[in-house]
Amino acid sequence: MIRTNNISFSYKEFEKPEELNTDDLELVFAARETAINAYAPYSKFKVGAAVRLESGIIVCGTNVENAAYPSSICAERSAFSNSVSNHHNDKPVAIAIAAMTEDGLTNEPVPPCGNCRQVIAEEESRTGNQIRIILSGKNKTMVIDSISSLLPLQFNKKI
Ligand code: THU
Repeated sequence: MIRTNNISFSYKEFEKPEELNTDDLELVFAARETAINAYAPYSKFKVGAAVRLESGIIVCGTNVENAAYPSSICAERSAFSNSVSNHHNDKPVAIAIAAMTEDGLTNEPVPPCGNCRQVIAEEESRTGNQIRIILSGKNKTMVIDSISSLLPLQFNKKI
């Protein structure tokens, strides 16, 4: 062995999303509102994602489940499918994620799954922009500057 390395990252934590800047707050509200539209009859876990593009446009997506479970899609990938398909050259700058159970909005922020992290990483690498990730629950909101914090040592097209 030549050395032991350590990877760590910083993120910002807020008690209430109202402490965010107005753009990010609007994005969190969009994610929360979109979650209501999720089709999640199997997990009963409704997720909403809202992507802000450089132009200011907000594009949303929800999880859409399927009786054949693996055919389901997560909210984040749903939102990016929408933004890439309809606003190809308008680069994403931020994504907010919110989720609700049958009891309402989750208390804790919900971090993106591994597949969605990989897709966010591809968007950063496709556009050359960092994408701010805003995870918001009832009791806590986290802001992470780039997917490289959540997906260190990532596999991407530069490799
Ligand atoms: N889900 C998302 O939409 N995003 C994630 O990052 C994690 C999980 C969805 C998938 C499934 O429909 C439900 O949440 C429960 O796993």
